Amino acid sequence: MKRDSDNTPSNCTLIPDPEKPQDERRRKLLKATAAGLVAGVASPIVSSAFAAENTKRKILIAYYSRTGNTRELANQIQQRVGGEMFELRTVHSYPKEYRATTDQAKRELEANFRPQLTAEVQNMGAYDTVFVGYPNWWGTFPMAFFSFFEKYDFAGKTLIPFCTHEGSHLGRSVTDMKSLCPKARILDGIALRGGNNSTVRSDSSRREVDEWLRKLGMTV
Ligand SMILES: Cc1cc2nc3c(=O)[nH]c(=O)nc-3n(C[C@H](O)[C@H](O)[C@H](O)COP(=O)(O)O)c2cc1C
Repeated sequence: MKRDSDNTPSNCTLIPDPEKPQDERRRKLLKATAAGLVAGVASPIVSSAFAAENTKRKILIAYYSRTGNTRELANQIQQRVGGEMFELRTVHSYPKEYRATTDQAKRELEANFRPQLTAEVQNMGAYDTVFVGYPNWWGTFPMAFFSFFEKYDFAGKTLIPFCTHEGSHLGRSVTDMKSLCPKARILDGIALRGGNNSTVRSDSSRREVDEWLRKLGMTV
């Protein structure tokens, strides 16, 4: 039987396959990539005045999730800070298979594609704080978030990134966010391990989320 790795394109080796957590070679490659990607990320801005403002803020938690890790993180954040949820979905679909999805996502990134989203945020103007959650796809957020950031005006809003990944952490997503929303205030994000070895539901991850929100002054 033909194995998945038999037809792995050479330019796709940096993406881990959660169906093969034992694949040491891919893990090493990913680790090396992660170091490079993380090194290139400018440090996000944190405002000390943020804690004091917390009581009055109107929060939106916008997220995209293909296999549930980022959704779980979004739920944990909502349990702690409240706010309304908005799940990004694209009109076009992705294949069920992981490898075919990474291939499609890579083509979309290279083409700078803007997927159409299935729903709109009602009254985006009313929100001053937007948590933005995504799986790391090829070092940044899925193209759905490029569509999202271009659709609304984020000037003056506070953006708080959270992501799940398999080695690349936030990658260059915060840099991309800054380019797309130059007048937004972007706070320190969090990146948790997703994939088949996901730790998102573990007690230690929950503590990490608590600590992150506390540092941001978002504890209720
Ligand atoms: C299209 C695609 C591209 C991915 N690219 C990366 C990557 O560049 N770096 C990384 O660490 N993980 C990558 N992953 C793994 C996902 O970020 C990880 O499994 C994430 O937790 C999935 O989140 P979800 O369950 O919310 O969809 C990729 C996954 C997919 C499907």
